[in-house]
This record gives sequence, C-alpha cells and structure tokens, in this order.
Amino acid sequence: MPTLQTTVDGLRLPNPFVIGSGPPGTNGKVIGRAFDDGWGAVICKTVSLDAGKVNNVQPRYARLRGRQSDEIYGWENIELISDRSFDTWIDEFKRLKDSHAEGVLIASIMEEYSKGAWQEIVGRCEEAGVDAFELNMSCPHGLPERRMGAAMGENPEILEEVCGWVMQVAKLPVWAKMTPNVTHIEDPTRASLRAGCQGVAAINTIRSVVAVDLETLRPEPSVEGYTTPGGYSGPAVRPIALRMCMEIATLINKEFPGRTLSGIGGIETGEDAAQFILLGSHTVQVCTGVMKFGYRCVQEMCESLLAFMEKHGFEAIDDFRGKSLPYFTTHADLVQRQAEARAAKKAEAQSQKAQQKKMIQGDAEWSGDDFVDQSDALARG
Ligand SMILES: Cc1cc2nc3c(=O)[nH]c(=O)nc-3n(C[C@H](O)[C@H](O)[C@H](O)COP(=O)(O)O)c2cc1C
Repeated sequence: MPTLQTTVDGLRLPNPFVIGSGPPGTNGKVIGRAFDDGWGAVICKTVSLDAGKVNNVQPRYARLRGRQSDEIYGWENIELISDRSFDTWIDEFKRLKDSHAEGVLIASIMEEYSKGAWQEIVGRCEEAGVDAFELNMSCPHGLPERRMGAAMGENPEILEEVCGWVMQVAKLPVWAKMTPNVTHIEDPTRASLRAGCQGVAAINTIRSVVAVDLETLRPEPSVEGYTTPGGYSGPAVRPIALRMCMEIATLINKEFPGRTLSGIGGIETGEDAAQFILLGSHTVQVCTGVMKFGYRCVQEMCESLLAFMEKHGFEAIDDFRGKSLPYFTTHADLVQRQAEARAAKKAEAQSQKAQQKKMIQGDAEWSGDDFVDQSDALARG
C-alpha cells in the first residue's frame, strides 16, 4: 500500500497537499478547519508587521468561465496581504499550535526593504511556534510603492539580499515564493537558493487583466468604475506553472542538490498534483481550488494521488518525484531524434522487404547459386 507521508526540509507531512497562502488560510478558524480536514500543511495568508497600511477593496475577484460550460478556468484577484494586525496573528499562531500540535503551520511573511523589519518578523513568528516560513516576494499588485512583494521578487539582487537577512536569523526552514512575472524564473530562484533558503515555492499569480465588460466598457473587477491589473490563478495558469516548476527543478538538480520545490498553480486534483511531482515538486499548494471546492477537496485529491501511485507501483512520493524531467530536451534534439527514428524505421522496412524477396514462393524458384541464401530466408532460428 503506497503512502502519501513525506518529510520535506525536516517537516513531517501526512500528505504533500499544502494550503497555499491566500483566503483559505486567512485566520485561525479556517486554518484549524484545514488541519481538521486533512491538509498536509497550511500556509497562512501573508502577514506583515504593520497591517494598518493594508486597505482592500470590494469586489476584488473576477473569474473567467468556459464558453461551453460554467466551469471557472481563471481567477483574477486584486487582494492585498492580510489586513489583520500582527498581534492578532501571533495570538492565533500560538492558539493553533496548542489546538493542532501535529499540524504543520507555515508563516507567509512580507516586509518592506528593511533588514530590521524582516529579522523582527522572523523572530516573532518563531517565538509564536510556527514550523517554517514562506517569504512572499511575489504579490503582483499593490504595495509596489512600499517596494514589497513582486517589486522585490523581480529583482534578483534585492531578492538575494533580503533572503540573506532572513537566513542570518531564521532557525526554521525557509521557502522563497517566486513571482512568475519574470522572463527567466531561474534568476530569482538562483538568487534565493544562493542566499541559503532551503527551498522555493512557485508560482504566485500572473499579472493579468481578466476581462472588459462590453456593456459598461469598464475592465473587471470594476471598483467605482476603475480597476488595476491583478494576479491570475486557477487551471488556466497550470501549464505555465508546470513549465516554471520544470525549469526550477532542473536548476535545483544541477546547482543546488537537496533543496526543495513547492509546486503551485491551478492544482485541483490528485492527477494535477502528480504532474507537479513528476516535474520535481516535493509538495504542492492549492489556493483557488479551495475557493472553488471547499476544504474537503483534499480527501479526493489524496485518494486519486494514491490511485495513481498504486497503478504505477510507486510506494512513496520520492519514488516518482522528478521522474518526467529527463524527457525534456531542446527542439534541435527533437528534430535529430525524429530523423534518426524515421531512418531506423525505413531501414527496418527495407530489410524486411529484402528478406521477403529472398523467400521463394514456389519450387521453381530454387536456384543452384542462391541455394544456401534461399534456404536461410525460409528458416527460423
Ligand atoms: C484571492 C487570492 C489571494 C492570494 N493571496 C496571497 C497572499 O496573500 N500571499 C501569497 O503569497 N499568495 C497569495 N495568493 C497566491 C496563491 O497562493 C497562489 O500562489 C496562486 O493563486 C496560484 O495557485 P492557485 O491556482 O492554486 O490559486 C493569492 C491567490 C488568490 C487567488
């Protein structure tokens, strides 16, 4: 019987399914619910020392549905980090560690470009008993004027410096969360791993404009008639997330063996999760999926991931992590492989044809000179 239990950066998880930072981890009540429903770990909504500057708007989501069905493929949000006070969060972290001692609680943190602030938030969360950190370097909207989130994550030099500040003081595992809004995801990945982070998480949302209302001519989500580009998530981003996870895992294997990857982006089923793991992810995170289907979806995800493992004879997550990575190559190599395969097939067909030609069809065809070859052609063994 396969097992979903896995240990990542010393964290013992009952399964690799992690609540991704966002509304599903937005207060102690819902985090407790996620543990009760069987999630492998929970990452809280991103917290900062001064929530007073966080001003959210309503509405702040806009969704893209299929043309033929009502299914939601894409989800844009212009939500900021948590608007709840840091003291409230510290209280809730402590209470959660009392009520759910086994639950793996990961603090998503974000601060301004200030060494003191980053080191203070790490220390205070550790005192409250969290198990690990995820550094949010990647929120695509809001707070760029404070040089927070993606404003840092898009700049590898600043990223390396900030991750370095955190690593000077952190006693717990640290994952740096990557923004996908860059040309080469390897650059910020390398910067954070060089600074000493144990792992990276990817991807955060993709900068987007989800739609324009053709009646009002206003872009969505419309707040008093105006909007701002937001972050795109859900199944529509999965192919981009898979590509970036593949690139990150390839880089980790080459340059940072032993570091870890938490795959994120449009994961809604065990089969989706299996693909991220096949491309090198140690854990998988779900955010939009929980907003669509509720906390209990983890149970079906676990069942279908186990069924996939059973079908292929995999006993543990590590047995198939990264197993599909060797099948990526360059386009030029694909052309060469195809030319070689076609040439081999043609040669095989020709040899079969020649062999058939040699086989006499009637006794009148036997000839003295070719007698041995003709006998060979008719023989097996
Ligand atoms: C409404 C919403 C709010 C989010 N807030 C945060 C956040 O506070 N911090 C963060 O690191 N990521 C945040 N995210 C990004 C998710 O954690 C995740 O990286 C992204 O949505 C892609 O995964 P998904 O398709 O499973 O949602 C948010 C996503 C959504 C949809």
